[in-house]
Amino acid sequence: MRINLRVWRQPGPNKPGKLVEYTAPSVSPDMSFLEMLDVVNEGLIAKGEDPIAFDSDCREGICGTCGFMIDGLAHGPMRATTVCQLHMRSFKDGDTLTLEPWRARAFPIVKDLVVDRSALDRIIQAGGYTSVNVGGAQDGNAILIPKPTVEQAMDAAQCIQCGACVAACKNASAALFTSAKISHLGLLPQGQIERSTRVVRMVARHDAEGFGSCSNEGECEAVCPKEISITNIARMNRDYFAATLIRGGR
Ligand code: SF4
Ligand code: FES
Repeated sequence: MRINLRVWRQPGPNKPGKLVEYTAPSVSPDMSFLEMLDVVNEGLIAKGEDPIAFDSDCREGICGTCGFMIDGLAHGPMRATTVCQLHMRSFKDGDTLTLEPWRARAFPIVKDLVVDRSALDRIIQAGGYTSVNVGGAQDGNAILIPKPTVEQAMDAAQCIQCGACVAACKNASAALFTSAKISHLGLLPQGQIERSTRVVRMVARHDAEGFGSCSNEGECEAVCPKEISITNIARMNRDYFAATLIRGGR
């Protein structure tokens, strides 16, 4: 396959950027998208040019490190798929693809397709933990939890912190991410003690980082590679309401 690329190249933060055209002349349909970019980069390095900067780590769809826009879609056209798990057979010979970084005020561009997503880390630091010492591992049935509740908590816990939800949202809101982190602890018994303070602190940090508010567009859920449900946002809003109005933020 021959794939034409238009790639956002930006040498550094606050530097001007532009789309630059490249051609990948012999792409195997079995290559992952990032492997295709590796080959393009080998060609650039051989010519003495600066390789395209992009993030990746596990390349198995579990670490959340990779991610950029392909033709305006976060992680590309396949549902529930990270860009590292996207394969070139998803495209046609001769396609022209435009690659751009996540665009959000809270995600400043570092270089090319790499953005600084440490704002998401700071939301976790604000409350995404339990400070209860639960000791050693208990038997699985030591604390009985209804199966539907466990399923909801584990579904929320699948969030890999990739930031695609932010990039897809017209408000650049991180509500899906934040609500997933709030839900997976808030639904379980171990997370009850800090349930109110957690939601207040994490929402406050979300807003302070410059993410926008959720207006129920649903774009986040559509692009999420882990299919995190926007019902988590509704749960976050209910918890926030209860914490601030009923319990006075405690
Ligand atoms: S909610 Fe989905 S899109 Fe957003 S950070 Fe988590 S895994 Fe990525
Ligand atoms: S590189 Fe780990 S999820 Fe893509």
